[in-house]
Amino acid sequence: MLAELSPQLTSEVTRAATLLQSAKRICILTGAGVSAESGIPTFRDKQTGLWEQYRAEDLASIDAFMRDPELVWSWYQWRRQLVHDKAPNPAHHAIAKWQQRAESQGQQVTLITQNVDDLHEQAGSTTTHLHGHLWRNRCSQCDRPYGDQSETVDKSTLSFDSELINCPHCDGYIRPDIVWFGEMLPTGAWQTAEDSAAHCEVFISIGTSSLVYPAAGLAQLAKSNGAKVIEINPNPTPNTLVDITLAEKAGMVMPHLVHKLNEE
Ligand code: APR
Repeated sequence: MLAELSPQLTSEVTRAATLLQSAKRICILTGAGVSAESGIPTFRDKQTGLWEQYRAEDLASIDAFMRDPELVWSWYQWRRQLVHDKAPNPAHHAIAKWQQRAESQGQQVTLITQNVDDLHEQAGSTTTHLHGHLWRNRCSQCDRPYGDQSETVDKSTLSFDSELINCPHCDGYIRPDIVWFGEMLPTGAWQTAEDSAAHCEVFISIGTSSLVYPAAGLAQLAKSNGAKVIEINPNPTPNTLVDITLAEKAGMVMPHLVHKLNEE
Protein backbone atom coordinates (compact mmCIF):
# COMPACT_ATOMS: atom_id res chain seq x y z
CA MET A 1 0.00 0.00 0.00
CA LEU A 2 1.41 3.36 -1.04
CA ALA A 3 1.11 6.25 1.41
CA GLU A 4 -1.03 9.13 0.19
CA LEU A 5 0.67 12.19 -1.29
CA SER A 6 -0.71 15.73 -1.42
CA PRO A 7 -2.34 16.71 -4.74
CA GLN A 8 0.56 19.09 -5.51
CA LEU A 9 3.19 16.44 -4.86
CA THR A 10 1.20 13.92 -6.89
CA SER A 11 1.26 16.27 -9.85
CA GLU A 12 5.02 16.85 -9.45
CA VAL A 13 5.59 13.07 -9.30
CA THR A 14 3.60 12.73 -12.52
CA ARG A 15 5.76 15.44 -14.17
CA ALA A 16 8.90 13.65 -13.03
CA ALA A 17 7.61 10.30 -14.29
CA THR A 18 6.82 11.80 -17.70
CA LEU A 19 10.35 13.16 -17.94
CA LEU A 20 11.85 9.85 -16.90
CA GLN A 21 9.67 7.80 -19.21
CA SER A 22 11.30 9.21 -22.31
CA ALA A 23 14.88 9.11 -20.95
CA LYS A 24 17.26 6.37 -21.97
CA ARG A 25 20.02 7.22 -19.52
CA ILE A 26 19.37 8.19 -15.92
CA CYS A 27 21.90 8.98 -13.22
CA ILE A 28 20.85 8.79 -9.56
CA LEU A 29 23.01 10.32 -6.82
CA THR A 30 22.06 9.43 -3.26
CA GLY A 31 23.21 10.84 0.08
CA ALA A 32 22.64 10.19 3.76
CA GLY A 33 18.96 11.20 3.52
CA VAL A 34 18.11 8.01 1.60
CA SER A 35 19.19 5.95 4.63
CA ALA A 36 17.59 8.24 7.24
CA GLU A 37 14.31 6.31 7.25
CA SER A 38 16.30 3.13 7.97
CA GLY A 39 17.35 4.75 11.25
CA ILE A 40 20.83 5.90 10.24
CA PRO A 41 21.47 9.52 11.25
CA THR A 42 22.42 11.80 8.36
CA PHE A 43 25.91 13.22 8.31
CA ARG A 44 24.93 16.72 9.33
CA ASP A 45 22.46 15.70 12.05
CA LYS A 46 23.73 16.67 15.47
CA GLN A 47 25.57 13.73 17.05
CA THR A 48 24.09 12.12 20.12
CA GLY A 49 25.23 10.46 23.35
CA LEU A 50 28.94 9.95 23.81
CA TRP A 51 29.75 11.81 20.63
CA GLU A 52 27.65 14.92 21.27
CA GLN A 53 30.68 17.16 21.70
CA TYR A 54 32.19 16.23 18.31
CA ARG A 55 31.25 17.23 14.80
CA ALA A 56 31.35 14.34 12.32
CA GLU A 57 33.33 16.58 9.98
CA ASP A 58 36.09 16.85 12.61
CA LEU A 59 36.44 13.10 13.03
CA ALA A 60 36.31 12.05 9.38
CA SER A 61 39.75 13.23 8.38
CA ILE A 62 43.27 11.90 8.10
CA ASP A 63 44.47 14.72 10.37
CA ALA A 64 42.10 13.60 13.10
CA PHE A 65 43.24 9.99 12.67
CA MET A 66 46.93 10.95 12.80
CA ARG A 67 46.30 13.07 15.90
CA ASP A 68 44.22 10.52 17.77
CA PRO A 69 43.74 7.20 15.93
CA GLU A 70 41.97 5.61 18.89
CA LEU A 71 39.32 8.33 19.00
CA VAL A 72 38.57 8.10 15.27
CA TRP A 73 38.61 4.28 15.27
CA SER A 74 36.23 4.19 18.27
CA TRP A 75 33.89 6.59 16.53
CA TYR A 76 33.74 4.36 13.43
CA GLN A 77 33.29 1.24 15.57
CA TRP A 78 30.41 3.02 17.30
CA ARG A 79 28.90 3.98 13.93
CA ARG A 80 29.28 0.39 12.73
CA GLN A 81 27.44 -0.87 15.80
CA LEU A 82 24.71 1.68 15.15
CA VAL A 83 24.33 0.66 11.50
CA HIS A 84 24.99 -3.12 11.50
CA ASP A 85 21.37 -4.23 11.97
CA LYS A 86 19.74 -1.57 9.79
CA ALA A 87 17.73 -2.67 6.78
CA PRO A 88 16.86 -1.02 3.45
CA ASN A 89 13.75 1.20 3.46
CA PRO A 90 11.13 1.69 0.71
CA ALA A 91 13.40 4.18 -1.12
CA HIS A 92 16.26 1.66 -1.43
CA HIS A 93 13.79 -1.02 -2.54
CA ALA A 94 12.09 1.23 -5.11
CA ILE A 95 15.45 2.22 -6.65
CA ALA A 96 16.57 -1.44 -6.80
CA LYS A 97 13.29 -2.50 -8.41
CA TRP A 98 13.59 0.24 -11.01
CA GLN A 99 17.24 -0.57 -11.72
CA GLN A 100 16.45 -4.27 -12.14
CA ARG A 101 13.64 -3.58 -14.59
CA ALA A 102 15.41 -0.78 -16.41
CA GLU A 103 17.04 -2.90 -19.05
CA SER A 104 13.76 -4.40 -20.24
CA GLN A 105 12.37 -0.86 -20.39
CA GLY A 106 15.28 0.25 -22.57
CA GLN A 107 16.79 2.39 -19.80
CA GLN A 108 20.13 2.56 -18.13
CA VAL A 109 19.83 3.58 -14.48
CA THR A 110 23.23 4.24 -12.89
CA LEU A 111 23.24 4.55 -9.12
CA ILE A 112 25.99 6.58 -7.49
CA THR A 113 26.02 6.94 -3.72
CA GLN A 114 27.92 9.05 -1.23
CA ASN A 115 26.83 6.66 1.49
CA VAL A 116 29.22 4.21 3.06
CA ASP A 117 26.50 1.82 4.24
CA ASP A 118 25.50 -1.14 2.05
CA LEU A 119 21.72 -0.68 2.13
CA HIS A 120 21.47 -0.15 -1.64
CA GLU A 121 23.27 -3.47 -2.19
CA GLN A 122 21.11 -5.18 0.43
CA ALA A 123 18.07 -4.03 -1.54
CA GLY A 124 19.56 -5.51 -4.73
CA SER A 125 21.05 -2.47 -6.48
CA THR A 126 24.27 -2.27 -8.41
CA THR A 127 25.97 0.70 -6.76
CA THR A 128 29.02 2.88 -7.26
CA HIS A 129 30.37 4.15 -3.92
CA LEU A 130 32.10 7.53 -4.12
CA HIS A 131 33.06 7.77 -0.45
CA GLY A 132 34.11 4.19 0.32
CA HIS A 133 32.65 1.40 2.43
CA LEU A 134 31.90 1.43 6.14
CA TRP A 135 32.43 -2.31 6.47
CA ARG A 136 35.81 -2.54 4.79
CA ASN A 137 39.19 -1.78 6.33
CA ARG A 138 42.67 -1.13 5.05
CA CYS A 139 46.05 -0.23 6.46
CA SER A 140 46.66 3.49 7.01
CA GLN A 141 50.34 2.96 6.25
CA CYS A 142 50.82 0.37 3.48
CA ASP A 143 47.25 0.64 2.14
CA ARG A 144 46.73 -3.15 1.96
CA PRO A 145 43.11 -4.29 2.40
CA TYR A 146 42.40 -5.83 5.80
CA GLY A 147 39.64 -8.40 6.48
CA ASP A 148 36.45 -9.08 4.54
CA GLN A 149 36.22 -7.00 1.35
CA SER A 150 32.98 -8.45 0.00
CA GLU A 151 30.05 -6.38 -1.26
CA THR A 152 27.79 -7.07 1.73
CA VAL A 153 29.99 -8.10 4.65
CA ASP A 154 28.50 -10.65 7.09
CA LYS A 155 27.95 -8.42 10.13
CA SER A 156 27.29 -11.30 12.53
CA THR A 157 31.01 -12.04 12.73
CA LEU A 158 32.15 -8.46 13.36
CA SER A 159 33.63 -7.07 16.53
CA PHE A 160 32.85 -3.49 17.53
CA ASP A 161 35.77 -3.35 19.92
CA SER A 162 37.36 0.10 20.04
CA GLU A 163 40.90 -1.21 20.45
CA LEU A 164 43.18 -0.32 17.54
CA ILE A 165 44.32 -3.09 15.19
CA ASN A 166 47.80 -3.30 13.68
CA CYS A 167 48.47 -4.33 10.11
CA PRO A 168 49.95 -7.86 9.92
CA HIS A 169 52.31 -6.68 7.13
CA CYS A 170 53.72 -3.33 8.31
CA ASP A 171 52.32 -2.83 11.82
CA GLY A 172 50.57 0.41 10.77
CA TYR A 173 47.10 1.14 12.15
CA ILE A 174 44.07 -0.31 10.40
CA ARG A 175 41.53 2.32 9.33
CA PRO A 176 38.09 2.18 7.73
CA ASP A 177 38.14 2.17 3.92
CA ILE A 178 36.32 5.48 3.75
CA VAL A 179 37.19 8.62 1.82
CA TRP A 180 37.89 11.27 4.43
CA PHE A 181 37.87 15.05 3.99
CA GLY A 182 40.91 16.09 2.00
CA GLU A 183 41.36 12.64 0.38
CA MET A 184 40.95 11.71 -3.28
CA LEU A 185 37.87 9.84 -4.42
CA PRO A 186 38.52 6.33 -5.84
CA THR A 187 39.43 6.91 -9.50
CA GLY A 188 37.22 4.20 -11.02
CA ALA A 189 34.14 5.23 -9.02
CA TRP A 190 34.62 8.90 -9.88
CA GLN A 191 35.05 8.06 -13.57
CA THR A 192 31.78 6.10 -13.54
CA ALA A 193 30.02 9.00 -11.79
CA GLU A 194 31.35 11.63 -14.20
CA ASP A 195 30.54 9.54 -17.29
CA SER A 196 27.06 8.78 -16.08
CA ALA A 197 26.32 12.41 -15.09
CA ALA A 198 27.74 13.81 -18.33
CA HIS A 199 25.73 11.45 -20.54
CA CYS A 200 22.41 11.18 -18.74
CA GLU A 201 19.18 12.80 -19.83
CA VAL A 202 17.83 13.00 -16.29
CA PHE A 203 19.86 13.41 -13.12
CA ILE A 204 18.14 12.62 -9.80
CA SER A 205 19.59 13.85 -6.54
CA ILE A 206 18.12 12.03 -3.53
CA GLY A 207 18.70 12.87 0.14
CA THR A 208 21.88 14.89 -0.15
CA SER A 209 22.59 18.36 1.21
CA SER A 210 24.61 19.07 -1.99
CA LEU A 211 27.33 20.66 0.13
CA VAL A 212 30.23 18.29 -0.38
CA TYR A 213 32.29 18.42 -3.56
CA PRO A 214 33.15 16.90 -5.95
CA ALA A 215 29.90 14.86 -5.64
CA ALA A 216 27.81 18.03 -5.42
CA GLY A 217 29.21 19.13 -8.80
CA LEU A 218 27.70 16.14 -10.65
CA ALA A 219 24.29 17.85 -10.97
CA GLN A 220 26.00 20.85 -12.58
CA LEU A 221 27.89 18.55 -14.97
CA ALA A 222 24.64 16.83 -15.97
CA LYS A 223 22.80 20.12 -16.40
CA SER A 224 25.53 21.66 -18.54
CA ASN A 225 25.26 18.65 -20.84
CA GLY A 226 21.54 19.18 -21.28
CA ALA A 227 20.07 16.92 -18.58
CA LYS A 228 17.01 17.76 -16.51
CA VAL A 229 17.54 17.64 -12.76
CA ILE A 230 15.11 16.22 -10.20
CA GLU A 231 15.71 16.62 -6.47
CA ILE A 232 14.08 14.57 -3.71
CA ASN A 233 14.61 16.12 -0.30
CA PRO A 234 12.14 17.30 2.36
CA ASN A 235 14.41 20.29 3.03
CA PRO A 236 15.75 23.00 0.71
CA THR A 237 19.35 22.65 -0.57
CA PRO A 238 21.73 25.10 -2.26
CA ASN A 239 21.25 23.23 -5.54
CA THR A 240 19.79 25.91 -7.83
CA LEU A 241 19.74 23.81 -11.01
CA VAL A 242 16.71 21.78 -10.15
CA ASP A 243 13.87 21.45 -12.68
CA ILE A 244 11.54 19.41 -10.46
CA THR A 245 11.62 19.35 -6.66
CA LEU A 246 9.87 16.55 -4.82
CA ALA A 247 9.93 18.02 -1.32
CA GLU A 248 9.19 14.89 0.70
CA LYS A 249 11.00 11.97 2.30
CA ALA A 250 12.61 9.60 -0.20
CA GLY A 251 10.88 6.57 1.35
CA MET A 252 7.54 8.23 0.64
CA VAL A 253 8.22 9.57 -2.87
CA MET A 254 10.39 6.92 -4.54
CA PRO A 255 7.80 4.08 -4.36
CA HIS A 256 5.24 6.44 -5.97
CA LEU A 257 7.64 7.48 -8.69
CA VAL A 258 8.65 3.92 -9.58
CA HIS A 259 5.02 2.78 -9.45
CA LYS A 260 4.06 5.58 -11.83
CA LEU A 261 6.89 4.63 -14.20
CA ASN A 262 5.63 1.07 -14.35
CA GLU A 263 2.09 2.23 -15.01
CA GLU A 264 2.96 4.33 -18.05
N1 APR B 1 14.54 11.63 2.46
C1 APR B 1 15.27 12.45 1.67
N2 APR B 1 16.16 13.33 2.14
C2 APR B 1 16.32 13.41 3.47
C3 APR B 1 15.58 12.60 4.38
C4 APR B 1 14.66 11.68 3.82
N3 APR B 1 13.92 10.86 4.58
N4 APR B 1 15.98 12.91 5.63
C5 APR B 1 16.91 13.88 5.54
N5 APR B 1 17.12 14.18 4.23
C6 APR B 1 18.07 15.14 3.66
C7 APR B 1 18.41 16.33 4.53
O1 APR B 1 17.45 17.37 4.33
C8 APR B 1 19.79 16.70 4.00
O2 APR B 1 19.68 17.64 2.92
O3 APR B 1 19.28 14.46 3.48
C9 APR B 1 20.35 15.40 3.45
C10 APR B 1 21.49 14.82 4.24
O4 APR B 1 22.57 15.69 4.15
P1 APR B 1 24.01 15.35 4.79
O5 APR B 1 23.86 14.90 6.19
O6 APR B 1 24.88 16.51 4.50
O7 APR B 1 24.49 14.06 3.95
P2 APR B 1 25.18 13.99 2.52
O8 APR B 1 24.67 15.04 1.60
O9 APR B 1 25.09 12.57 2.11
O10 APR B 1 26.69 14.33 2.89
C11 APR B 1 27.64 14.22 1.87
O11 APR B 1 29.43 14.63 3.33
O12 APR B 1 30.51 14.52 5.23
C12 APR B 1 30.48 13.99 4.01
O13 APR B 1 31.28 11.94 3.27
C13 APR B 1 30.19 12.51 3.95
O14 APR B 1 29.01 11.31 2.25
C14 APR B 1 28.93 12.41 3.14
C15 APR B 1 28.94 13.74 2.39
